[in-house]
Amino acid sequence: KWPKQVTIKEVGPRDGLQNEKTAISTEDKIAWINQLSKTGLTYIEITSFVHPKWIPQLSDAFEVAMRIERAPGVTYAALVPNQKGLEKALAAQVDEVAVFMSASETHNRKNINKSIEETFPVLEEVVRAAKQEGKTVRGYVSTVFGCPYEGNVSVEQVIRVSERLFDMGIDELSLGDTIGVATPKQVQELLEIVLKRFPKEKLAMHFHDTRGTALANILISLEMGITTFDSSLGGLGGCPYAPGASGNVATDDLVYMLHGMDIATGIDVGRLMEAALFIQEKIGRPLSSRYLQTISM
Ligand code: HMG
Ligand code: MG
Repeated sequence: KWPKQVTIKEVGPRDGLQNEKTAISTEDKIAWINQLSKTGLTYIEITSFVHPKWIPQLSDAFEVAMRIERAPGVTYAALVPNQKGLEKALAAQVDEVAVFMSASETHNRKNINKSIEETFPVLEEVVRAAKQEGKTVRGYVSTVFGCPYEGNVSVEQVIRVSERLFDMGIDELSLGDTIGVATPKQVQELLEIVLKRFPKEKLAMHFHDTRGTALANILISLEMGITTFDSSLGGLGGCPYAPGASGNVATDDLVYMLHGMDIATGIDVGRLMEAALFIQEKIGRPLSSRYLQTISM
């Protein structure tokens, strides 16, 4: 019923830090990513090449990407909204770029200042150019389970946007519960439809834990065949253009659950917790993950 192995994609340095009020220095970001590289994680989303006015926390994207130590076997990815972001990401030699848009019109506009229709050609061009440079491309769809401005989002709309992204040539699709509203019932209903359309090997789930349902949502996703999950160490994070959104499901809580179910992740828990304690100290308050608090006391 459960897979033997799961891939965890660490998004803390991007999704986590983009929404933290405490300023983390470039040096500390680099030190943290270097620690994450030694935990056994195979994928780290290190930053995003977006407009610095929109996300000031990540305005040092280029420097971070250039100065981290690249460990063999780790994919270093970054978020890119348009051609300008792509050019910077390519100059900074990221391994993979992630494009992003929303299933709901209002969140798409608030987040990237375009309608959904206007976004497609922009991302199409980014995907084409990234592929030409030999990069793999990940696509994110946000507000899959609900929008902070519009409420319910239909599965048809999620499928429509996802289909367009796959048509562009993305290698993997990450379905985002941006504001952490999903329940296992909703995840099951969505995945029943999504899995008929797209191969499960190309799907990842991205849960925020705003209402405490993220691990339950991961469990049902696992049971339906999904084996890639995004998470953020310590449960850092959120989306600044989604009011009320809190952090991603915590990598440390997720690893605890998976290892306890005899599902391998390749992650060394001791090293993971060293990295968690490091960033918790820099943030300067107890982070929201549960597992971390059992060892911080
Ligand atoms: P815009 O203002 O519409 O951009 O912003 P524009 O194309 O009209 O250009 C305006 C100015 O911005 C120009 O400069 C451009 O050069 C510059 P000017 O000529 O006026 O001096 N510009 C840029 N500068 C730096 N980097 C760039 C860039 N692009 C244009 N890439 C834009 C459009 C997309 C840039 C803006 O809305 C933006 O940066 N948005 C990012 C918002 C964001 O990062 N949100 C959080 C990430 S998404 C998320 O968290 C959800 C996710 O986790 C999944 C989930 O949870 O569901 C992924
Ligand atoms: Mg997110």
